[in-house]
Amino acid sequence: MTILIKTTDQIDKMRIAGKLAAEVLEMIEEHVVTGITTNQLNQICHDYIVDVQQAIPAPLDYHGFPKSICTSVNQVVCHGIPNDKKLKSGDIINIDITVIKDGYHGDTSKMFYIGKPLPHAQRLIEVTQECLYKAMALVKPGAYLGDFGEVIQQHAEKNHYSVVREYCGHGIGEEFHEDPQILHYGRAGTGEIIREGNIFTIEPMINAGKRQVKLNKRDGWTVETSDRRLSAQWEHTILVTADGYEVLTRRSEESF
Ligand code: MF3
Ligand code: CO
Ligand code: CO
Repeated sequence: MTILIKTTDQIDKMRIAGKLAAEVLEMIEEHVVTGITTNQLNQICHDYIVDVQQAIPAPLDYHGFPKSICTSVNQVVCHGIPNDKKLKSGDIINIDITVIKDGYHGDTSKMFYIGKPLPHAQRLIEVTQECLYKAMALVKPGAYLGDFGEVIQQHAEKNHYSVVREYCGHGIGEEFHEDPQILHYGRAGTGEIIREGNIFTIEPMINAGKRQVKLNKRDGWTVETSDRRLSAQWEHTILVTADGYEVLTRRSEESF
């Protein structure tokens, strides 16, 4: 399998889609407070994407997903469905935004604290972000997909955390999920070699306890840790450039 190489025209459109997805995360920050519900966050993001950005929230109706964003609270690993429960102090939440603009996708997520961060949650969130950044730093033409998996797994396990294996990063472009799968565990020097013009996400899900997860059978979407301990995730959409990488979903708080 060879990973799609985007044309400069496609890359320009991916830059725009990525920037819009990042801007939704920046916009929503001030609303992520005690007492708000994830349905309210969903509505604010939906309206912003549709009315202000004149873009499409990709999750809505994607394989039947019922909302416009994913909101994964505490032990929820990914694909949490916004609901009417109020967020409370001490909660942690991943908000995952994917927009479609001019036919192209931008996909990014970050963690937020409700109220004051609790030390064990803060550590998990920081280490998970480090896992993403360490993998991103290895992105350049000639790198192997396994290089990313190994650095993520090593950093997580060194900190006595575990890596979720059932869900992974992905190529992205005209489709939400394209080849290849980007595993967040593995061995350096294995798997496919990446080339200039490839675009994919890296989105490690790191658990405080055991790596096992379970899918909620009632809603068919929500993925939770089997041991009910916390999970964290960060995601960026990344372009392979001639000598490294460009983060298409970079927020202004980040400098790469
Ligand atoms: N945004 C998720 C990802 O990073 C996918 C969500 S699929 C949905 O790949 F249907 F749950 F929205
Ligand atoms: Co993704
Ligand atoms: Co995502």
